[in-house]
Amino acid sequence: MTAALDIENLQAWYGESHILHGVSFTVQPGEVVTLLGRNGAGRTTTLRAIMGLTGARTGSIKVNGVEAIRLPTHRIAHLGIGYCPEERGIFASLSAEENLMLPPQLSGHGAGMSVAEIYEMFPNLYERRHSQGTRLSGGEQQMLAVARILRTGARLLLLDEISEGLAPVIVQALAKMITTLKAKGYTIVMVEQNFRFAAPLADRFYVMEHGRIVTTIAAAELQASMPALTELLGV
Ligand SMILES: Nc1ncnc2c1ncn2[C@@H]1O[C@H](COP(=O)(O)OP(=O)(O)OP(=O)(O)O)[C@@H](O)[C@H]1O
Ligand SMILES: [Mg+2]
Repeated sequence: MTAALDIENLQAWYGESHILHGVSFTVQPGEVVTLLGRNGAGRTTTLRAIMGLTGARTGSIKVNGVEAIRLPTHRIAHLGIGYCPEERGIFASLSAEENLMLPPQLSGHGAGMSVAEIYEMFPNLYERRHSQGTRLSGGEQQMLAVARILRTGARLLLLDEISEGLAPVIVQALAKMITTLKAKGYTIVMVEQNFRFAAPLADRFYVMEHGRIVTTIAAAELQASMPALTELLGV
């Protein structure tokens, strides 16, 4: 089986600053993995490097078997990746539905999720479809940011701290969303600070420190690894 994402010895820079020092990990189609780590560990930079949004990069990033390390960002997206950055990028002056319809569908990856399917999955977005971006709650904006990616047809999702700053009931809804997407066969790489959110969702946890993966924990090993993990994350 071709991996959905196969990263080997990824190094990345912002200008002169060498941030990633050889990140390697592999995600099979349909898996959910989580990048954990303290502030500044390099988790966001890993997602940005996959998308070609850092400065120089070296190493290998294969998306469904296609080498992406030398491709520009728009070509990388067209390999079927949906990137949801921490800042969400909801346009304040557009309605929820206009935001949803904004990105074009990716060619060659089958149809994206239909608007009907999206509204079935996010009933409150349907209710709020005519509301302006600014009028949406943080949770609604987060759901919209993910929904917008699903419509493009991307099957590999890179999600940066989607649960951050949201009320427990919304975090629960996001957890249900991840479970649903996994059941539909999506491949998901999530960066999380909220370990309790990620714990029941991920197949594998990668702990980053100083631009490297220092520990890999499979879901089945999670219980036994808790003391070490607590130490690493300082939680
Ligand atoms: N645009 C940038 N220019 C220079 N250095 C950066 C830039 N963005 C991040 N860095 C540095 O890269 C390192 C990794 O940052 P990154 O944003 O990847 O961390 P993170 O693991 O996502 O943590 P958090 O989101 O909690 O800050 C940090 O030392 C940070 O200061
Ligand atoms: Mg970050």
